Amino acid sequence: PAVAVIVVAAGSGTRLGRARPKAFVEIAGRSILERSMDAVSGMSETATVVVVVPDALVADARAALAAAGGAPVIVVPGGDTRQKSVAAGIAVLPEGTGIVLVHDAARAFTPSAVFDRVVSTVRSSGNGAIPGLPVTDTIKSVGDDGVVQATVDRSTLVAVQTPQGFPRAHIVEAYARAAGDFTDDAALVREAGHPVAVVPGDARAFKITTADDLERADDLLRRQGM
Ligand code: CTP
Ligand code: MG
Repeated sequence: PAVAVIVVAAGSGTRLGRARPKAFVEIAGRSILERSMDAVSGMSETATVVVVVPDALVADARAALAAAGGAPVIVVPGGDTRQKSVAAGIAVLPEGTGIVLVHDAARAFTPSAVFDRVVSTVRSSGNGAIPGLPVTDTIKSVGDDGVVQATVDRSTLVAVQTPQGFPRAHIVEAYARAAGDFTDDAALVREAGHPVAVVPGDARAFKITTADDLERADDLLRRQGM
């Protein structure tokens, strides 16, 4: 089945605190969104790409992505929550799409290999797959009184990233039934009763959230000599 990637870039980037929306902030001369598109175009199979951006930036994003070259991209306006932005992307998936990946534009340095891993696991299992990394910190549960209740068994925990991939039917059904706010797409698909597997993530798939993360991005580029 054909693969589509929905890149959600419609957030405002409140925590980053820049004048423009986060995906349009530049790192060493190229926007976070453009850098995310590099990873998508590096996938081993060609995917349809849907980019979801703030309403006011649809025309700008179309022009910038066309100027950057590469395969044509569908650009649509997002909503006021990530969930609504993903739904806007799902609504324009082309006929014939069998596997859908949802990716945060803010994870601009995610290696293409992570996308490939997710696609191949969805394809072979017929179920969802999401990248995750082992949790390295010691995790405690804490009561309302601020007192530690227990040390959580870390061996059962993973920190999850994007791209998160699903058979189209699973994510379409999950979004159609969605009631309330979910923290990620996998939570919604699980709620709809479909299994989701974890595949190895990558430290470079970290989400650019704060100003510190922009520094981390600069360091990464410098180390890669880019
Ligand atoms: N996102 C989106 N539409 C929204 C909110 C978020 O498409 N209404 C996207 C963001 O553009 C980002 C991804 O979802 O690529 C993860 O969200 P987050 O890191 O929280 O980005 P922002 O919401 O932009 O940042 P903040 O929460 O600091 O405002
Ligand atoms: Mg947000």
